[in-house]
Amino acid sequence: MEQTYVMIKPDGVARGLMGEILSRIEKKGLKIAAMKLAVMEESKAKEHYAEHAARPFFPGLVEFITSAPSLSLIVEGKDAIKIMRALNGATKPAEAAFGTIRGDFAMDTGRNIVHASDSPEAAAREIKIHFGNDKILSYKRSVDAYLY
Ligand code: TYD
Ligand code: MG
Repeated sequence: MEQTYVMIKPDGVARGLMGEILSRIEKKGLKIAAMKLAVMEESKAKEHYAEHAARPFFPGLVEFITSAPSLSLIVEGKDAIKIMRALNGATKPAEAAFGTIRGDFAMDTGRNIVHASDSPEAAAREIKIHFGNDKILSYKRSVDAYLY
């Protein structure tokens, strides 16, 4: 099964949207393999968004991501990376379709509530940054027999 890294950003946590977002992930059929609520260290935020280091929005992005608790997840399932990006919707909320998390709940690109890895390489890299050597539980769900 494929794994992806998902973050409910500080705006999603502060707005009380964790349950709503986790519910959408679970209802789709994806499995939550790991979960951690914490204020992200600045070094981790910079590493996470390293591809954007030269962009003008980078300092504000790092400041925002480290400003308050965010929820880090490992989400698992067949095609989890693509499916999670689709659940999140387009980066810019004005372009995100209704029915997506960003389309339904966000107003501004800098406050777009969620993150999900965009490729298998990014997923492996981001899971390593945020979960490092943490022991990830393995557990069975009865629902899996009906999903695959
Ligand atoms: P990006 O990787 O382009 O989007 P995504 O989160 O969909 O993979 O950008 C990373 C984050 O940076 C994005 O979620 C919000 C922030 N951002 C801005 O604040 N302003 C911008 O113009 C862009 C492109 C991104
Ligand atoms: Mg991205």
